[in-house]
Amino acid sequence: MKKILFQLDTDPIPNTFDTVVACDGGADYVSCRGNIKPSTVGTMVDGAVFTRPPRAKKNTALFVTGSNMGEGEAVLASIRNHFFGDFRVSVMLDSNGSNTTAAAAVAYMGQHVQLQGKRAVVLAGTGPVGQRAAVMLAREGVDVVLTSRRADRAETACDAMHRRFGVKLIPAAAGDPESLGSTLHDANIVLATGAAGVQLLTEEQWRERPALEILLDANATPPLGIQGIALADRAANRHGKICYGAIGFGGFKLEVHRACIAKLFESNDLVLDALEIFALAKQMIAER
Ligand SMILES: NC(=O)c1ccc[n+]([C@@H]2O[C@H](COP(=O)([O-])OP(=O)(O)OC[C@H]3O[C@@H](n4cnc5c(N)ncnc54)[C@H](OP(=O)(O)O)[C@@H]3O)[C@@H](O)[C@H]2O)c1
Repeated sequence: MKKILFQLDTDPIPNTFDTVVACDGGADYVSCRGNIKPSTVGTMVDGAVFTRPPRAKKNTALFVTGSNMGEGEAVLASIRNHFFGDFRVSVMLDSNGSNTTAAAAVAYMGQHVQLQGKRAVVLAGTGPVGQRAAVMLAREGVDVVLTSRRADRAETACDAMHRRFGVKLIPAAAGDPESLGSTLHDANIVLATGAAGVQLLTEEQWRERPALEILLDANATPPLGIQGIALADRAANRHGKICYGAIGFGGFKLEVHRACIAKLFESNDLVLDALEIFALAKQMIAER
């Protein structure tokens, strides 16, 4: 029986990146749909859950993607509302690669630094990757400051993650060098999750900070998010700090992503969101 993955994208045009990884992760057939809304996803869920006998339902799975985290969460909630009894299939949420990217980043950090009790700054953390990374760090016992250019956007993101995961994040506006400098004071961890091609931090702003132990930049498009870190850095020592660039941890992100896809076909009742994907990433890195 073929393993079928329905890639349900909240954007009008489904993301080709996710389609490639879906195939590499073990799906035999990927059906891509765009413009998915909570109000319209129900017919697709019905088609997925009513077609195969109980023991074969694990060969059908759903993968929610798209650039908007909130929209992805709403679609996931609607899908789960349509399930009942054994009429369900496994489903994964990874809007903009948020969960798999954040899980790989934070799992790598945990390899080098005892996270519990540390202070982290997630720069431009209002996007999908930053929000999820902030949640994962907080769940590891880290005090997390989530920044934005605008205080209200930082607050909205922190409130959303509190509602969804019960974590307390600290919102901060860090749109100018002065506020950025005070936010970075005493930070042990910096994770840059700004939009592609946006520099958030100059080398001068981070190299002389003795408390800073590790920096990771998710942005792979020049100019990079953190000046002074190379794209391929993987635990590179720069100014006495451990540094990761986007390609440096991107290979592991892809491994995690593929492993999640494979896992979807192991049973028909999995829901893979931030915490499940982070647990898998930590297990994978521990087994290396
Ligand atoms: N390495 C990997 O494997 C991997 C995988 C997936 C994604 N990524 C990368 O991870 C990063 C985060 O992804 P995402 O989807 O979460 O990002 P995003 O939503 O595109 O952007 C994140 C935040 O960046 C801020 N921003 C946008 N334009 C800006 C500007 N001109 N100046 C300063 N800040 C700006 C915004 O925050 P405010 O408006 O609130 O300030 C925005 O919410 C991206 O660079 C993406 O390419 C990497």
